[in-house]
Amino acid sequence: MKVLVTGGAGYIGSHTVLALLQQDHQVVVFDNLCNASEVPLARIEAMTGKHIEFFRGDIRDVAALDAVFGAHQFDAVIHFAALKAVGESTQKPLAYYQTNVHGSVCLLEAMQRHQVTDFIFSSSATVYGELAIVPYLESMPLGSPSSPYGATKVMVERIMADYAAANPEFRGVSLRYFNPIGAHESGNLGEDPKGIPNNLLPYLAQVAVGRRTHLSVFGGDYPTQDGTCLRDYLHVMDLAEGHTAALNWLADHPQQRGIEAFNLGTGQGVSVLDIIAAFEQASGVPVPYEIAPRRAGDLAAFWANADKASTMLGWQAKRNLTQMMHDTWRWQSQNPSGYSEE
Ligand SMILES: NC(=O)c1ccc[n+]([C@@H]2O[C@H](COP(=O)([O-])OP(=O)(O)OC[C@H]3O[C@@H](n4cnc5c(N)ncnc54)[C@H](O)[C@@H]3O)[C@@H](O)[C@H]2O)c1
Repeated sequence: MKVLVTGGAGYIGSHTVLALLQQDHQVVVFDNLCNASEVPLARIEAMTGKHIEFFRGDIRDVAALDAVFGAHQFDAVIHFAALKAVGESTQKPLAYYQTNVHGSVCLLEAMQRHQVTDFIFSSSATVYGELAIVPYLESMPLGSPSSPYGATKVMVERIMADYAAANPEFRGVSLRYFNPIGAHESGNLGEDPKGIPNNLLPYLAQVAVGRRTHLSVFGGDYPTQDGTCLRDYLHVMDLAEGHTAALNWLADHPQQRGIEAFNLGTGQGVSVLDIIAAFEQASGVPVPYEIAPRRAGDLAAFWANADKASTMLGWQAKRNLTQMMHDTWRWQSQNPSGYSEE
């Protein structure tokens, strides 16, 4: 299949591009590089011996979208492009609604103009909102997330549902990610956020290579076994394979119409202190940390019920926490400055 991947130069996008090429799909990447560079794409080409066509453009730019849809007949679109920093979204909510909501509408409109029906969207566990009971199940209603970022994910899921109701040809899949971490096992691809990392693993890995002095653990008094937050961490390559599974499921079900949501997680909650200990064991490097005040909007604990993805997509997370930590460390120790030295 020929697939348009928006945000394909980013963390999850680049790993998914690799998984798509490994399954002999053709890939066109569309990314404005606001939080990425072309280096991972060059590395994927070197790893696979396959060409990736790259368009530098913004999903809000209608002419740029028409150029890429005009140049290719796509079988499906996988839509990663978004702003994703939860904290920043409370400071710059309009930028988040502009890129994540308006940008997604521009993309769906371009798909409609060019008769592309199959759409896989990067959603998030945050759509269940603050009041949902764990483990999260797809049959639960969309909730009220605490951040503008989370609200954008709920809005795009609603837009997909409304669009599907009005356009019977549309075939949408929302993949609700839990907490992707890790890196490709080669050490060639990984997470390289611009600026100060917002997520635990890239921050921790940057402490381990000496780029930052210590890790702040936000909250040590949650009602969990060690007082720190529990999350459902999954390996980014498992997540990438969740996308190829969804793409193949759509292809194998030509009668499928409307939208379908799937949780992609392991089904297990792991604490921040568990992560630090597992990372220290995998890397052999001690990670200085301090317990800091709770962050506004953080939930104590959530994890997935991932049975639906297993039953319908035949997808399950295969890689364990030890592998997640080894692969994170391989990536960070081989690329202490991320992609920036190239
Ligand atoms: N990483 C996570 O923990 C997580 C969890 C749940 C959902 N998600 C979602 O998964 C998707 C990918 O996340 P990621 O962690 O790989 O983030 P990322 O920032 O590494 O990737 C996003 C990519 O989109 C590009 N982009 C941003 N705005 C754009 C625009 N207007 N036009 C074109 N390209 C644009 C960026 O340059 C970047 O390459 C996002 O939609 C994110 O909200 C991520």
